[in-house]
Amino acid sequence: MASPIQMATESRSQEISALYQSVRARTLEIVAPLEIEDYVIQTAEFMSPPRWHIGHTSWFFETVLQKYQPGYKHYSDDFLFYFNSYYEGFGARIERPKRGTRSRPTVAETKKYRAHIDEQMTQFIARVSEHKDADEILKILRLGLEHEMQHQELLVYDIKHLLCDQFDAPIKSPPPSVENVSGMAEIEGGLFELGYAATGSSRSVREGLSHFAWDNEKPAHKVFLEDFQIERAPVSNGDYLEFIKAGGYQDFRWWHSAGWTQVKDDNWQAPLYWEQHDGQWMIRDFAGLHPAEDKSNEPVSHVSFLEASAYAKWAGKRLPTEAEWEKAATVSSENTRKNFPWGDTVADESRGNLFENGLWSVAPIGSFPEGQSAKGCHQMIGDVWEWTTSDYVPYPGFKSEFDEYNDKWFVGQKVLRGGSFATPQIHIRATYRNFFYPHERWMIGGFRCAKDSD
Ligand SMILES: [Fe+2]
Repeated sequence: MASPIQMATESRSQEISALYQSVRARTLEIVAPLEIEDYVIQTAEFMSPPRWHIGHTSWFFETVLQKYQPGYKHYSDDFLFYFNSYYEGFGARIERPKRGTRSRPTVAETKKYRAHIDEQMTQFIARVSEHKDADEILKILRLGLEHEMQHQELLVYDIKHLLCDQFDAPIKSPPPSVENVSGMAEIEGGLFELGYAATGSSRSVREGLSHFAWDNEKPAHKVFLEDFQIERAPVSNGDYLEFIKAGGYQDFRWWHSAGWTQVKDDNWQAPLYWEQHDGQWMIRDFAGLHPAEDKSNEPVSHVSFLEASAYAKWAGKRLPTEAEWEKAATVSSENTRKNFPWGDTVADESRGNLFENGLWSVAPIGSFPEGQSAKGCHQMIGDVWEWTTSDYVPYPGFKSEFDEYNDKWFVGQKVLRGGSFATPQIHIRATYRNFFYPHERWMIGGFRCAKDSD
């Protein structure tokens, strides 16, 4: 008879098996509308051709097979070289800016490779509970699936950069704004427990899925906060347009030195994907080209940390720290801590604009009242990743759980919180720390302002 430990391992392997099938299928759904030529083009050094994502997410699972499947013979030396991203520990690889300089492996070969890995992995997962390292393997497999969800989001950014409104995205219509959200929420300071600590059941209510958090969200630790205020809504296109019209991009006073240099060097005059036609600012997205005024009640996106900081200074405010953001997102009306602004259950379509909502765009401010925090902050989860002033550095007591994944990036980047319309629901939580360089803006980055309490 199976012991309780064996039964627990068996149930976890079934959970991973189901998650594997659904996550792998979604990646292919995202790229389905692409034409063959679209898969191999690299439109900027920071993006990757879609074919590369399809292969790289498979390469990641092949490294698991190489390590744990006795007798596994790797698929191809060329594929190991082309589909490794940045892992020194896994050998030589193509430089990132050159991913679009090759037509081989072809798209058909890459898809064949992906199908081969899926076949191998399906058999491997079916027997994983018999493996002596089953616990360790199940953890790595979950990590590999979270990694693939990160690449699903990157695919959306990259396809937008590649094709934008030429991509035939299966767009659903946005929910209406039902609430006028304005002003700032007052948040009491004091000691705050920052970071991820598993609370309640180890399984979330939805899909019976075990909790997961990255090593960089741990350990939870105390920080002291002064009283502060934080905006109830993300900064909107309408707000940001005021900054542009007030000459924000022409006035050095609002900018960090690095920001002002960037503005001049790259001739920045507005967020990425904003275009001027006949003196009018327009925003291009997956649905087409729209006057910015028509989108004035939607969160501004595709702004860098440098632009967000300049706007905040111009507005007489500042960006929040990640601890302030997390407290505003997690403190309940009874002053206890929740995993999400609305409580402890995983995001669903009524609470935040995430990938499953199918909007392929930000949603109007005030269209997710059920997702607001106890302090009345809206759309903290979904729509846009929100820049904070915090440097992406390890929390005190940090222990790396996977080599070269999160810890090798602990210098020079800023933390963003909350997920975007391209983030899968089960991938996001309030403690999630995303990170990008201060000048980057091809990802879906926006912000909300904070200020010290009066
Ligand atoms: Fe990756």
